[in-house]
Amino acid sequence: MEQKIDQKVVLVTGGTQGIGLGIAHEFLSKNYFVIICARHEPKENLFESFEESSLFIECDISSNESRAKLIETIKKNVGRIDVLVNNAGVGPPERKDLLEASEKFFEYVMKINLQGPYFLTQQLANYMIELQEKGKILNYHPSIMTISSISAFTSSTSRGEYCISKAGLSMMTKLYADRLAEYNIPVYEIQPGIIETPMTKGVKSKYDKLIGEGLLPIKRWGNPADIGKAAVTLAEGLIPYTTGQVLNLDGGFHVRRL
Ligand SMILES: NC(=O)c1ccc[n+]([C@@H]2O[C@H](COP(=O)([O-])OP(=O)(O)OC[C@H]3O[C@@H](n4cnc5c(N)ncnc54)[C@H](OP(=O)(O)O)[C@@H]3O)[C@@H](O)[C@H]2O)c1
Repeated sequence: MEQKIDQKVVLVTGGTQGIGLGIAHEFLSKNYFVIICARHEPKENLFESFEESSLFIECDISSNESRAKLIETIKKNVGRIDVLVNNAGVGPPERKDLLEASEKFFEYVMKINLQGPYFLTQQLANYMIELQEKGKILNYHPSIMTISSISAFTSSTSRGEYCISKAGLSMMTKLYADRLAEYNIPVYEIQPGIIETPMTKGVKSKYDKLIGEGLLPIKRWGNPADIGKAAVTLAEGLIPYTTGQVLNLDGGFHVRRL
């Protein structure tokens, strides 16, 4: 793996399956060098024809130590980061009613879904600023985006911790958008709706039924490529003069209807 400094570099956390993998594919198709990270190394080669342009790094984003190693590897082996996509996330290991749910699951979900991205963003934003100040990379326009969810504003009483973690990511986006504007680093939030991935396998028939009954104005599941295309659009600066923006990629779910 030899990194050319003129190739833009994106880190997609949790890029080994589902939405993250879809995002990784869209960036590869635009000639980015793609780094993915997850707790488990994928069993098969995910990017066959893009081996020279991709790198897997094992990392649990909820661990401070693991994040430090991830960043060290990027600095040492790649030497540049243009785009951070905070995508990795989990639901609670078991759905439990709000009146019964445990602190253990709360802590598990919050550490991965909120604390991890909050500090990974802090650490990589500092690296982006450092790269900017060194001024060695031509046309360097870094950006940061976070995959939250419609759960940031939609109540699901059987997974309160998930909803709170996603609502927290909305504020995280606003905070970093505000702080990093002076460095010309736009920060965005993408709120996907119901997307067909391994995460939603277990609730497939439930959502098939709801979509069939008219839950969404656009009557289909979303797919990872839908999210990937939006992520690339943001990273390429095609929606200029924006930061802190929320993109609703949800088939119109957020539209109030009568
Ligand atoms: N699917 C949907 O309908 C939907 C809707 C709205 C928002 N989202 C959000 O979109 C994101 C991706 O969802 P998905 O449906 O693609 O989920 P998924 O299929 O379960 O994939 C999750 C990815 O995150 C990685 N991951 C989980 N915990 C991690 C950790 N601690 N450190 C590093 N990587 C970790 C997983 O790999 P390992 O397990 O190997 O670590 C995997 O690569 C999540 O944040 C999710 O909340 C999904």
